[in-house]
Amino acid sequence: MSIIMEHYIIVDIIALFMLILGIKWIFLLNKKKKKSPDLRWNWDTINLQDPLEFPDFFEFGVATSEYQISGCEVRQNEKSKKIDSNWSRFESKKNWLGKCVIEPASNGIDHWNRFLSDISLIKELGVSVYRCSIAWERVQPRENYYDQAVIAHYHQLFDECKSQNIKLMVTLHHFVNPGWFEDKGGFEKEENIAYFVEFAKKMFSEYHEKVSYWCTINEPGAYAGQTYLTHNFPPPGTGIIKKLYRFFKIPDLHKAGLVTRNLMLTHIATYNAIKTMAGGKNSKIGFAHNIIPFEPYHPNNLIERIITKLLNHVYHDTITQFLKTGTFNFKTLTGTMKMTYPEVHNIQDFIGINYYSHVLCNWLSPTRPRVRPQDKEIPTDMHYGIYAEGLYKIIKDLHALGKPIFITESGIADAYDNRRELWYKRYLYAMKRALNEGVDLRMFCAWSAFDCFEWDLGYTKKFGLYAVNRKTFERRLKPGAEFFKKVISQHNLRR
Ligand code: BGC
Repeated sequence: MSIIMEHYIIVDIIALFMLILGIKWIFLLNKKKKKSPDLRWNWDTINLQDPLEFPDFFEFGVATSEYQISGCEVRQNEKSKKIDSNWSRFESKKNWLGKCVIEPASNGIDHWNRFLSDISLIKELGVSVYRCSIAWERVQPRENYYDQAVIAHYHQLFDECKSQNIKLMVTLHHFVNPGWFEDKGGFEKEENIAYFVEFAKKMFSEYHEKVSYWCTINEPGAYAGQTYLTHNFPPPGTGIIKKLYRFFKIPDLHKAGLVTRNLMLTHIATYNAIKTMAGGKNSKIGFAHNIIPFEPYHPNNLIERIITKLLNHVYHDTITQFLKTGTFNFKTLTGTMKMTYPEVHNIQDFIGINYYSHVLCNWLSPTRPRVRPQDKEIPTDMHYGIYAEGLYKIIKDLHALGKPIFITESGIADAYDNRRELWYKRYLYAMKRALNEGVDLRMFCAWSAFDCFEWDLGYTKKFGLYAVNRKTFERRLKPGAEFFKKVISQHNLRR
């Protein structure tokens, strides 16, 4: 008995000793002002005043998504009703104090009623591409029912773009599921994929003559990460276990992996289905892959290294590896979710990339990224910095896949509009540098045309090239957007 006791005491002492050493080590490493290992250009020596000339084939565009600009409210006979979706349900939720858990999207920036003038504003920017999304929850508010008025609305919108000489890239899923699809278990269930494919086929048969590029899913990895890891997106269904995960903010790695896999399967099934349809062979189909590299704030800190490895794994690495190798390898705490698809090189006609910045995670508050002062990085309103080098690195890396690269989204949240010009100067420079080195980069879509609803962050983040007055809905071009506009107008004059 006493021997056992002694043994325990010794173990305790060793454990305590190791804990103290561990904490000391972490503090020591945190104190070290180590230079970050990331690619850093010396911006002081780069002349950003030089006119940025892009090749003739290069297309500039702007991007939006329907829910972010039209919300979920429709007005009918003086009354307003909500279109049922995972997001409209989320904004109806109240916390214990009776307050909404997120700022309601309501009717967005009323784009649904102002689309004609909005397209004119987009045209004024000089862009040749508009990436927008079709709201699945509006088109198909009930299972087996398509709303013809909504279908006609999109015909009108697409016709207007055509008459203004703007090519369309249409996204079919941008984070929003119709309520009925959500009730069936959404993308957690593989058998539900068929519902989305059917919707996609219907949209393709309606609009394929008017749409140049199709983007099946926006950011599969980010959707899964935000829903099951950080729990910032709407709760996926009900049930006590799900509620517990959410309440204690426990990452549900298994579900994150499952949904990422199912979304990739959804993309592949949609791609293959459309390709066999009339007009399908010549269609250009891809998906928007968000790459947001997470990096340790303290490059040597073990905890930060583990956290960032996990985040990279969930948000984008698994998908990137899948695209490169055909093997989907998602590791969870209890095992590995595997899938192989040898035909992986035939699942997209272009590589869509959404890139904003990298995120430096600090072990004490992993969800509140920081910007390292020694890197001289300029913060944006999203708590990550202006990091154009990351865009260059990603383009160079994915060039190896041998498909044209489209930057389907990139932009800055900048409420004071005092960093926007610099953002565009640096990000366009990064693309130009990659182009000069021979990559097959063909398009850049700025996020976003208008200030709009930024999901769980409500209307607080101002990504728009146009500012929008939330009361009058008046749109105004921001001075910080002028540089981007000038580059496009010179580009249009040259080609
Ligand atoms: C999403 C957009 C979002 C933007 C800015 C992207 O990842 O696709 O919906 O507004 O990021 O955070």
